[in-house]
Amino acid sequence: MSVRRLAEVQPASFAFTKENLEWAQGQIAKYPEGRQASAVIPLLWKAQEQHGGWLPEPAIRTVAEMLGMAYIRVMEVATFYTMFALEPVGKHFVQVCGTTPCLLRGADKLMHVCEKKIGHQKELNEEKSMSWLEVECLGSCSNAPMVQINYDYFEDLDPDSFEKLLDDLVAGRPVKPGPQIERQGSAPAGDKTSLTDSTLYDGSVVGAWKKGFAERVAVKAKEKELAASEAAKPKETSPGEKQAAKPPTDKTKGG
Ligand code: FES
Repeated sequence: MSVRRLAEVQPASFAFTKENLEWAQGQIAKYPEGRQASAVIPLLWKAQEQHGGWLPEPAIRTVAEMLGMAYIRVMEVATFYTMFALEPVGKHFVQVCGTTPCLLRGADKLMHVCEKKIGHQKELNEEKSMSWLEVECLGSCSNAPMVQINYDYFEDLDPDSFEKLLDDLVAGRPVKPGPQIERQGSAPAGDKTSLTDSTLYDGSVVGAWKKGFAERVAVKAKEKELAASEAAKPKETSPGEKQAAKPPTDKTKGG
């Protein structure tokens, strides 16, 4: 768990650019009168983007004024979520998940790599191109251990692949977000253990099922047709039934 404190050195002021201000007003307008505070996260996020990836104190104040919120309420939001960086970050900002599933799968070793390649947590490296932070679960536990670098997730890491990833970033070489092993998304690593029948994927199972279905529908239709024609046939009546069908004589009448 990282301690969340405002940076000691802060800019004197903050103002949204014209374009970002228009965008912010559009966000605020999405909410009904009296509910403008609902736009606090998007506005803080935009302020952070504009300010080079971290959120200065004057920006928190600006957002509070724009939304008519108490300053401390916006401060609470900014200090609660680690998606808001409260101190300057490098061009490549590495957030290492240190929650249990990632830790059990070697996140501590990734943090050692960060210390070796970048330096102390929350401090910019010498070139000011990188910084790192331990954060809580980033919601990619099935691909543990993982890190977020700027907007991308890099998953299924080990110390070697992570070191290489950091080297590639520094050297400006292309990197591939997502799993860093042969694995599709969060599908099981290695060979499949279920749904392995190839006919499930070549259409033959669906084809056979469709054919069987059509046959069953045709049989049902035939049965219905036969039943309808049987019902339409005139019924043969027996002599006894004919007698019974004669109307009874009214014995109450005279004659
Ligand atoms: S525990 Fe690391 S992503 Fe969830």
